[in-house]
This record gives sequence, C-alpha cells and structure tokens, in this order.
Amino acid sequence: MKYLGLGLIGLAALLCVGFTAVWLLAPKAPDFAALRQDDPLFAKGEALFERCSFCHSITEDDNRAGPHLAGVFGREAGTACCFIYSPVFKDLGFTWDEQTLDAYIGDNQGFIANNWMNIPEIPDAEERKALIHYLKHL
Ligand code: HEC
Repeated sequence: MKYLGLGLIGLAALLCVGFTAVWLLAPKAPDFAALRQDDPLFAKGEALFERCSFCHSITEDDNRAGPHLAGVFGREAGTACCFIYSPVFKDLGFTWDEQTLDAYIGDNQGFIANNWMNIPEIPDAEERKALIHYLKHL
C-alpha cells in the first residue's frame, strides 16, 4: 500500500515534468501586443503592412488576391498552400530571407519580371527593413 502511494506520487511528478516540458517546447503564437510595445521596428513594420493587407492575410490558408504570408520568412517562394501563382512564380527555387524579400519588395517587377504583384516599389530601405522585420514574426 505504501509503495502504491509512492508510485502514484512519482507518476504525478513525472506527468508534471512532462507537461511542463511540452508547454515549454511547444511553438507559441507570437505575442503581438508585447512586440508592438517593446520593439519599435516591429511596430513600424506592422503599420506599414497596411499597404499589403488588402491582398495579403497573415493567417494560414487565408489567401486573398495574394498568397497568405504566415510563415513567409524562411518559406520557399511560391509555395503557400492552395494559392494559384503566376507562371513566373513556378519553380523559383529560392527561399524568402532578408535579401530576397528586400529585392522583391524594393522592385518586384525588376526582381521577378511579369509576376502578378503589381504594386509600386518601396524605395525607402528603412521601411523595407521594418516590413521584413515584421514578416519574420508571422
Ligand atoms: C494588389 C495586391 C497586392 C498587394 C497590395 C501586395 N501584394 Fe504581395 N503578392 C500579390 C500577388 C498577386 C502575389 C503572387 C505573385 C505571383 O503569383 O506572381 C504576391 C506575392 C507576394 C510574396 C511572395 C509570397 C510567396 O508565397 O512566395 C510576398 C513575400 C509578398 N507578396 C509581399 C508583399 C508585401 C510585403 C506587400 C506590401 C508592401 C505586398 N506583398 C503587397 C499581391 C499583392
């Protein structure tokens, strides 16, 4: 009887440790409110994203005129699920990182000729930096 009690306490302790580990390791949604407050570059990028949100959602599977941008940083170009890209976007074979995003947002037609994102370029390097910093958190 005594050993059963000890066993149960041991089991409970193991479960606690297990659940804490899962909680610590599980990917958490970014805390946008905290980022907005603590990270001015994030706040600037988020505000600038108003120029993009008409066509781009930050929620997975919510494709609008453009593909959703959840997890776009580090994603292979042209691979958002279920979005129908232009022919020139097929098999680009690169990943979105600081350099490729900067080039695309800075002059999208110059970087990928005839792609369907026909918006004015963003000539201000500081604005592009803020936007890319924001995109990293999605
Ligand atoms: C008028 C609509 C429109 C606006 C506004 C717009 N985009 Fe796009 N975007 C698109 C379309 C359409 C595509 C897909 C291009 C293609 O298939 O050729 C795209 C593609 C992209 C991609 C590539 C995503 C992938 O899955 O490979 C990124 C990154 C991107 N846009 C960022 C932005 C950012 C940042 C802004 C704001 C500065 C912005 N876009 C504004 C329509 C838009």
